[in-house]
Amino acid sequence: MTEMRPVTDATASQADAPKKMALPDAQTVTQVTHWTDRLFSFRVTRPASLRFRSGEFVMIGLMGDPNPDTGKQKPLLRAYSIASPSWDEELEFYSIKVQDGPLTSKLQHIQPGDEIILRPKPVGTLVHDALLPGKRIWFFATGTGFAPFASLLRDPQTFEDYDEIVITHTCREAGELEYGAALIESLKHDELLNEVIGEGFWKKIRYYPTTTREESPKMGRITDLMRSGAAFEDLGVAPLNPETDRAMICGNLAFNLELKEMLEEYGLEEGANSDPKHYVVEKAFLD
Ligand code: A2P
Repeated sequence: MTEMRPVTDATASQADAPKKMALPDAQTVTQVTHWTDRLFSFRVTRPASLRFRSGEFVMIGLMGDPNPDTGKQKPLLRAYSIASPSWDEELEFYSIKVQDGPLTSKLQHIQPGDEIILRPKPVGTLVHDALLPGKRIWFFATGTGFAPFASLLRDPQTFEDYDEIVITHTCREAGELEYGAALIESLKHDELLNEVIGEGFWKKIRYYPTTTREESPKMGRITDLMRSGAAFEDLGVAPLNPETDRAMICGNLAFNLELKEMLEEYGLEEGANSDPKHYVVEKAFLD
């Protein structure tokens, strides 16, 4: 999830790498991977009591800089989709690095052994419970919006509920597709998932990566590629139909709104936990 909802006004200090902090709700960083100069993922310990549904998010962060007058520090928190599956013993997150972003300017410097704050209250709309039964599910992502789908693509329920899973990922540059591409490739060799879900479960996945600002095998915004029909032709599937298709959307705000409008044109209706329907949109940064 991108950094969009400031919780405090604390000023960023790039030099301040996180240290051991004796934080409330502290979790320890176990692994950090830098994918590009704009993107990184990291893993942290999981609170023993934390249960979540694939696709949900939690608030995570660091302590902000001390108030110059009082010396007091406030937590600086953002909503982050959990990218790891609900059965994993650790938690994984996928983040953008905003050089002047209050949180990510610091968070990008975390190292294994550092602590972050993690409020153990998962919530979210991108959950299977919010959708009616269907045959095919579409996961539409841009940028770090891939994160909830990294969780859902490792959830046995996704493969039990649907015959086909289409994941589209639109990014500016080819390097930004790597986290998702590596994850999908890893499913083929994941012995545990192949055993639990069924040998070759990953063959149900249709992966459709596109770039908009750098040459790659498939160029263009997914919205444009759907409007022209190219996406359906490339994938060899019919356009979305409320009888058979379900969808989840997670990307930047303009993308979410544009795609939501398109899905409504196909006749799909927005669902919620309390009222399951045909599609859902990430709400974390629309509040
Ligand atoms: P574009 O390069 O044409 O703006 P960002 O990094 O700004 O969040 O964007 C991630 C990706 O989402 C980019 O490839 C961007 O394309 C694409 N994008 C942005 N807005 C929309 C939209 N309204 N519909 C479809 N794709 C979009």
